[in-house]
Amino acid sequence: MTTEPPQRPRVLVARRLFDDVLEPLRQACQVQFNDDDRIADPAQLRAWMSDKDGALITGSERIDAALLEACPRLRVVSTMTVGFDHVDVAACARRGIVVTHAPDVLTQTTADFGIALLLAAARQIGDAERYLRAGEWRSWSADLFAGSDVHGSTLGIVGMGRIGREVARRAALGFGAAILYHNRSRLPEELERPIGARYCGLDELLEQSDHVLLALPFSAQARHLIGREQLARMRRGATLVNIGRGGLVDEAALAQALHGGHLGAAGLDVFEGEPRVDPVLLGAPRLVLTPHIASASLPTRRAMVRLAMDNLLAVLAGRPALTPVAAGAA
Ligand code: DGY
Repeated sequence: MTTEPPQRPRVLVARRLFDDVLEPLRQACQVQFNDDDRIADPAQLRAWMSDKDGALITGSERIDAALLEACPRLRVVSTMTVGFDHVDVAACARRGIVVTHAPDVLTQTTADFGIALLLAAARQIGDAERYLRAGEWRSWSADLFAGSDVHGSTLGIVGMGRIGREVARRAALGFGAAILYHNRSRLPEELERPIGARYCGLDELLEQSDHVLLALPFSAQARHLIGREQLARMRRGATLVNIGRGGLVDEAALAQALHGGHLGAAGLDVFEGEPRVDPVLLGAPRLVLTPHIASASLPTRRAMVRLAMDNLLAVLAGRPALTPVAAGAA
């Protein structure tokens, strides 16, 4: 009697990632790669995923109930991102599909970038560079691109998860900043004490901070957490930085606060509706814009892909995921 060799699981890799990192996946599974690296529209994604056991995705693929309906074999969705607002976790749980994400591996790199974007915004590095390249620099003057200081300032951090805490640590220990934070819950004292972080309400944080940095995930409740009213509460000349998710900030209100001069500067790495960027932002002064690159150092992006692959392989082999998204997570 001959027995058929067991079928290797079928897997989709939804974007072009790092071939050498993904070699073990290629060995263990039948892999369909998106060699064009274009973001698939919902119909294309459905066609690709309908016969798959697993999918390795990025933040650009939306996994919703309608898509899952068309994927009867799917057992695991592994996103290479730490954020998972693009995956309907509840719908996956109802179908017994494991969702995994990629925390920890990007924390330090993303926190580095949070500080970089804060400095770039507060010191107007973006506008200054464009001015120089445009040949507009005729003479030195005392107030040319004179921004605000980060050292010795008060930094308010909204969202004190792993990344927020690492930004706080850098700002407190490296720049002597006083740290205020607002979070779903207060941190244990042993985490607050070494960086002198003080927990407070959002309004107080906005009123007392020289710079405000958002490092929280997106949820429907957090949409436009920073709108016209919150921007008005911020100190005149303050800086706003968003490395969390697009949608946390009302972009039209932000542009207005910059044009009107109430806000000193801003830095955005994430946008509502990205990769489209609202033209209202492109015309705003003292605003640094970057294309969602906070975690984009090469070693970190490779580590994110590796973790996503290891999660996928673990679940497909019947082992527990390394970093699952908790079933009740929104
Ligand atoms: C994440 O991992 O959620 C980041 O935003 C993507 O770099």
